[in-house]
Amino acid sequence: MGRVYTVTLNPSLDYTVSVENFRLGYTNRTVSESLTVGGKGINVSTVLKHMGMESTALGFVAGFTGQEAERQLAGRGIKSGLIAVEEGQTRINVKLQSVEGTEINGQGPKIPVEKLAQLMGMLSELTAGDVLFLSGSIPSSLPEDTYLRMMERLAEGVLTVVDVSGQGLVKALPLHPFLIKPNQHELGEIFGVTLTDRLSVIPYAKKLQGMGARNVLVSLAGEGAALLAEDGSVYEASAPEGELVNGVGAGDSMAAGFLAGWLERLDYRHAFYMGLAAGSATAFSEGLASGEKIRALYEKIARWS
Ligand SMILES: Nc1ncnc2c1ncn2[C@@H]1O[C@H](COP(=O)(O)OP(=O)(O)OP(=O)(O)O)[C@@H](O)[C@H]1O
Ligand SMILES: [Mg+2]
Repeated sequence: MGRVYTVTLNPSLDYTVSVENFRLGYTNRTVSESLTVGGKGINVSTVLKHMGMESTALGFVAGFTGQEAERQLAGRGIKSGLIAVEEGQTRINVKLQSVEGTEINGQGPKIPVEKLAQLMGMLSELTAGDVLFLSGSIPSSLPEDTYLRMMERLAEGVLTVVDVSGQGLVKALPLHPFLIKPNQHELGEIFGVTLTDRLSVIPYAKKLQGMGARNVLVSLAGEGAALLAEDGSVYEASAPEGELVNGVGAGDSMAAGFLAGWLERLDYRHAFYMGLAAGSATAFSEGLASGEKIRALYEKIARWS
């Protein structure tokens, strides 16, 4: 079986704190805190690992925070191909849990051209059947078309999963990504429409497929997801029932679940259900979903349908 690689251009250490009665302009004290490596590609690698699938995390790290990011990755049993940048440091993103959605995200190191070239060189080594996840926005110190340039240099037959929003996504389509996973807001934004239910996303998923995407998986958070598969078949399902704990990383989990399911059986329905199960399992978990939780939800989803 092919090897799987994820790219996280600007990983982070997420300093997640909860504060009771947070007051702006005062000294607040945490009631809990954690410092955990983050980044969309690293989330994908983590969920794949939980599902028993190896992958290598690629991207850039710097400084002592970068060393800690590497240490945590090793602790998760994820192979690292992260390239160390000499100046600056891997960013720390502050997430204030008590005030839903409040974050202060750092910038991360400037990536010198020769380090980007080094990553490009690594990508040239991928061969047919390998999979490359390109997830998350491009940091401002890198060219806007970085993902396109990466895709252009891949050998024939390397499967790509592209999880970016807006024009970054649209521009990648002519290079035939194997999977794209916009959420309904990202899909709607591309076409200037508001999409709220699973059936209304299908015509727009078709447009993206017409522009070059192979499989289009549209997620709608608690409303579930819809898949327009490469062979033109459509699958849609509501999310399984459960209590939302933390939706962060649900999309990354879904992409990981779909890919793992696809590689397992080369069957669209199975891949779709695995994606749905992984996304919802993460939404129902404090951090990223465990393999156990994903399997349990998969059984539930497969049983209803
Ligand atoms: N509240 C929820 N209840 C049940 N399932 C959920 C919920 N939120 C997310 N999910 C599951 O996770 C999948 C992906 O979620 P979502 O649409 O929020 O992705 P996203 O916006 O790309 O997330 P991300 O923040 O990771 O980029 C959904 O299709 C669904 O299966
Ligand atoms: Mg997303």
